Amino acid sequence: MAYSQILFEADEHGIALITVNRPEKLNALSGSLVAELRDAFERVAGESAIRAAIVTGAGDKAFVAGADIKELAALSAIEARQYALRGQQAFRLLETLGKPSVAAVNGYALGGGLELAMACTVRFASENARLGQPEVKLGIIPGYGGTQRLPRLVGRGRALELLLSGEAVTAAEAHRIGLVNAVVPQAELLGHSRSWLHKVMANAPLALGLVLESVDVGLDIGLEAGMRFEAAAFGISAATEDRREGTRAFLEKRSPAFAGK
Ligand code: COA
Repeated sequence: MAYSQILFEADEHGIALITVNRPEKLNALSGSLVAELRDAFERVAGESAIRAAIVTGAGDKAFVAGADIKELAALSAIEARQYALRGQQAFRLLETLGKPSVAAVNGYALGGGLELAMACTVRFASENARLGQPEVKLGIIPGYGGTQRLPRLVGRGRALELLLSGEAVTAAEAHRIGLVNAVVPQAELLGHSRSWLHKVMANAPLALGLVLESVDVGLDIGLEAGMRFEAAAFGISAATEDRREGTRAFLEKRSPAFAGK
């Protein structure tokens, strides 16, 4: 697919940088832009040379200022449901890539923008970022997973505070409540995101995938079944060449060279 509203570039380390590129509309997500994102996430999932992704917004003002309100205003109930489902599916794909992803939140992350950030593995924010779910101010509710992921990330009380007030919080407050993992100066945001990914990518790739999957599955199936899933995944990790290399390298007092096998 040729992209007109996002940019996609993969670097030599296997990090795909996906930039929502509609700065004149503060990177608002049109339906066609969400389709481009979906295609980009499929590329990240499918290309073995790509090992991680960073999602960010073009310009220095917005990550993504929400779904496109002009489009939303014209949707019938049936169309709105489809619109929500398509966005949910795209973001779920991002969440279940089996590879780590970073939301580099470089400004406003509102509505669908915060929902996009929450589907990433971690969120790093620039100092000017503002994050919120303002949908109730527009007479609607979040439709790209906000009512589900926000309470999982920050707890029910804080999630409801944000969802019901529609007010945005500062980057510092988002950090305090665990909505973002770190706050850094805007000029350092991509560098910080890349260096975190480099640290993660030095670890065994199959183990990373199994951790991501175990946490994702475990959060939905409860402790008992989650533990069983973890034990099975642990068993799979023990069958990898990377396990042999990782344990041997430790015993031989050297750095491991993981093959992802
Ligand atoms: N959908 C469509 N267009 C949007 C948008 C959105 N979610 N957010 C911003 N834009 C557009 C504006 O309409 C404006 O377009 P125009 O220049 O053609 O008039 C442009 O982006 C710049 O936005 P503007 O509102 O002028 O910038 P600002 O600095 O004054 O305010 C915000 C920034 C983020 C506070 C404000 O744009 C805003 O409240 N946006 C909507 C946020 C929202 O409710 N998102 C959830 C949607 S479900």
